[in-house]
Amino acid sequence: MRGMLEKDANPPLGDGGDATARELLAKAMERPRALSTRELATLLRMPDPKPLFEAARSLRRSVVGGGVALRGLVEISNICEKNCYYCGIRRDNRNPKRYSMDAGEILAAAGWAHEAGYGSIVIQGGERRGEAWTGFIEGILREIHTAFGDKLGVTISLGEQTEETYARWLEAGAHRYLLRIETSNQSLYAKLHPGDHSWEKRLNCLRTLKRLGYQTGSGVMCALPGQTIEDLAEDIAFFAAEDLDMIGMGPYIPHAETPMAGWSGAGELGAARRLDLGLRMIAATRLHLHDVNIAAATALQALAPDGRERGVLAGANVIMPNVTPRRYRAEYDLYEGKPCLGEEAAQCRGCLERRLAGIGEKILWNRRNDPLHARCSR
Ligand code: 5AD
Ligand code: SF4
Ligand code: FES
Repeated sequence: MRGMLEKDANPPLGDGGDATARELLAKAMERPRALSTRELATLLRMPDPKPLFEAARSLRRSVVGGGVALRGLVEISNICEKNCYYCGIRRDNRNPKRYSMDAGEILAAAGWAHEAGYGSIVIQGGERRGEAWTGFIEGILREIHTAFGDKLGVTISLGEQTEETYARWLEAGAHRYLLRIETSNQSLYAKLHPGDHSWEKRLNCLRTLKRLGYQTGSGVMCALPGQTIEDLAEDIAFFAAEDLDMIGMGPYIPHAETPMAGWSGAGELGAARRLDLGLRMIAATRLHLHDVNIAAATALQALAPDGRERGVLAGANVIMPNVTPRRYRAEYDLYEGKPCLGEEAAQCRGCLERRLAGIGEKILWNRRNDPLHARCSR
């Protein structure tokens, strides 16, 4: 069955019955990459996702181990040269007040995350090019490395750059990179982005990052207008084919000040169905890839207060608590309903600890928690 994403959280079965889906779960748990794209689609469509989530969580515990790894997220700048049709900080949106944290502020946020026991940070910002920016990031990475050495994992997520820039940032101390492919469907990608954005260029960036030796992460949005369950199954096959170490996925959430919010189908799926699709993607990705790090993305928390915990219950093992200074948080406005805008980082730390304890999960404090996949394959 091909077609747009069904609105119903429990859509009618496409192919195979429940017994088939259960057989597929058993097959997936036996060894990684055991499923065809068609079989992945069958899992994504299971009428009752509970067995899917349970299998994924149990596989996560046996392969990656118990507990949740944290990465303190520092949103260093909302200035972006790109104009993605879905994103609230796209170049042509005049509403967010544009900011760039200075070196002192970024170092202080990194230091706070380290002191708080997070073990790793993610430095994320809009896409910018040019020597001033490249050199600024390089300098920060060196300072962070000098201050914390290998005790603090450093991920960067700063968009498409040249091989030379990636190599400089790696040499300066970053060792993980996140660059979402957004969708593996090239024609859908072309609809979501202006003509000067290129899916192939993005893929080449991912391959370059991997070749240079970064632990490489990517991911997609789900619940996009025009997307099908088959597209999502293909996304998971793409993660396997590109041999990624880390996956970060989240549901698309419309932002009123973007072109896409007005498109037909953009607001069609309700919050419950978007969240459900995000959780199904986490579970099916865990079942297919086994040993990668999978983040329970903040977009899940935007759709339900316990969205991230539900992500962990569906097979995720990483959470990225926000450590951006409070005065900048609301301006890093990717989508509507972004959580924790009024909270200080310390409040989020306590909140997260309580929430994870509530589902019987420990936090893996003071450890970098590199993806098992990166340790095994290199
Ligand atoms: N809804 C959900 N995720 C979004 N992102 C950007 N805009 C949105 C949105 N409206 C995600 C993209 C990007 C990451 C930084 O944020 O996947 O890669
Ligand atoms: Fe810029 Fe990323 Fe938003 Fe696209 S999704 S406009 S690259 S911040
Ligand atoms: Fe920020 Fe709960 S994680 S308040």
